[in-house]
Amino acid sequence: MKIGCPKEIKPQEFRVGMTPNAAQEAVARGHEVIIETNAGMGSGFDNDSYVAAGARIVDTAEEVFATADMIVKVKEPQAVERKMLREGQLLFTYLHLAPDPDQTHDLLASGCTAIAYETVTDRNGGLPLLAPMSEVAGRLAPQVGSWTLQKANGGRGVLMGGVPGVGPAKVIVIGGGVVGTHAAKIAAGMGADVTVLDRSLPRLRYLDDVFGGTFKSQYSTAGATAELIQDADMVIGAVLIPGAAAPKLISRAQLSTMKPGAVLVDVAIDQGGCFETSKATTHADPIYEVDGVMHYCVANMPGAVARTSTIALGNATMPFLLALAGKGWKKACQDDPHLLAGLNVHAGQLTYEAVGTALGLDVVSPEAIVNA
Ligand SMILES: NC(=O)c1ccc[n+]([C@@H]2O[C@H](COP(=O)([O-])OP(=O)(O)OC[C@H]3O[C@@H](n4cnc5c(N)ncnc54)[C@H](O)[C@@H]3O)[C@@H](O)[C@H]2O)c1
Repeated sequence: MKIGCPKEIKPQEFRVGMTPNAAQEAVARGHEVIIETNAGMGSGFDNDSYVAAGARIVDTAEEVFATADMIVKVKEPQAVERKMLREGQLLFTYLHLAPDPDQTHDLLASGCTAIAYETVTDRNGGLPLLAPMSEVAGRLAPQVGSWTLQKANGGRGVLMGGVPGVGPAKVIVIGGGVVGTHAAKIAAGMGADVTVLDRSLPRLRYLDDVFGGTFKSQYSTAGATAELIQDADMVIGAVLIPGAAAPKLISRAQLSTMKPGAVLVDVAIDQGGCFETSKATTHADPIYEVDGVMHYCVANMPGAVARTSTIALGNATMPFLLALAGKGWKKACQDDPHLLAGLNVHAGQLTYEAVGTALGLDVVSPEAIVNA
């Protein structure tokens, strides 16, 4: 199969769909890999590293789209890229179609087959191609939060680990899923006093079993949150209710109960944010203050560490990419129901129920399509 990887063109996107290692694995299986020039530069992979892996570099995205049987990307195709997709071409990338009618209509009109990273599942009911980005955002949260806690950035001037004779920062993590667990691990590793709140008792049991000596866990109620935030130096918002906007767990009125210069890191901002005063910010201008409390609310946190994010995403996508290239999308989806769960669009038909519901469009079952 001819596998094409264009340079990402969405503003502030420095990741790339294929690493040189992924290219090498594909070439070793007899596939041809075509990379747009400088596609990997934002993640620290130059053209030579792809050439060494056996890939071919081309000058333009047009050449990539015109030549490849399968396009591998990171972000959803932008309008100019969607015009280059063609009937029968396979697209493997993040799509997030439900809030995006323009993209959905363009993909349907193109006749392509589109498999969305974010809806591929695993046997534990997880989302294996979203998890790496949650891991990155979770581990980054205490890092950016501790920077915000510094006096010059508006914070309380508290060191995460304290020093001998001076206590550590108190960090509250609301939501103990993928983001929250990784955030708590790193915050505890920096020496902070960490408490994780969650609403799922099985999740709290798991956290206690595995991390009992490293951080504390507590059942999440409005009362527990109200009490804990009064003494907190940093609160990390990491909740998710699948398919719904994030619940608002700290109100504006509650900010006045917090210490001046305390920090809120709202990782759930991509779902609307879990603090009333959160509004999405960018890496160029990541923090702001409300009522004396600092807020960090960057909606695409993994972009700050594009190289780590690219490699982590590539590790997760590669087995699926190789299956799609090796077997063709239909056989690969017939063999793997979790990959089939990623099928969102095929030959002008929408195949993902939640997108159809969100956009009021007819949906054909993916099983009917692969078994046709
Ligand atoms: N800003 C970014 O760059 C970025 C990057 C990755 C993920 N995210 C977002 O981070 C959020 C968390 O993602 P995740 O992968 O950890 O999800 P997850 O499903 O693994 O974990 C969410 C957890 O929140 C818990 N929860 C739900 N309601 C709660 C409540 N009221 N109180 C306490 N806990 C509650 C759930 O029980 C679950 O354990 C999502 O909104 C995701 O989109 C943002």
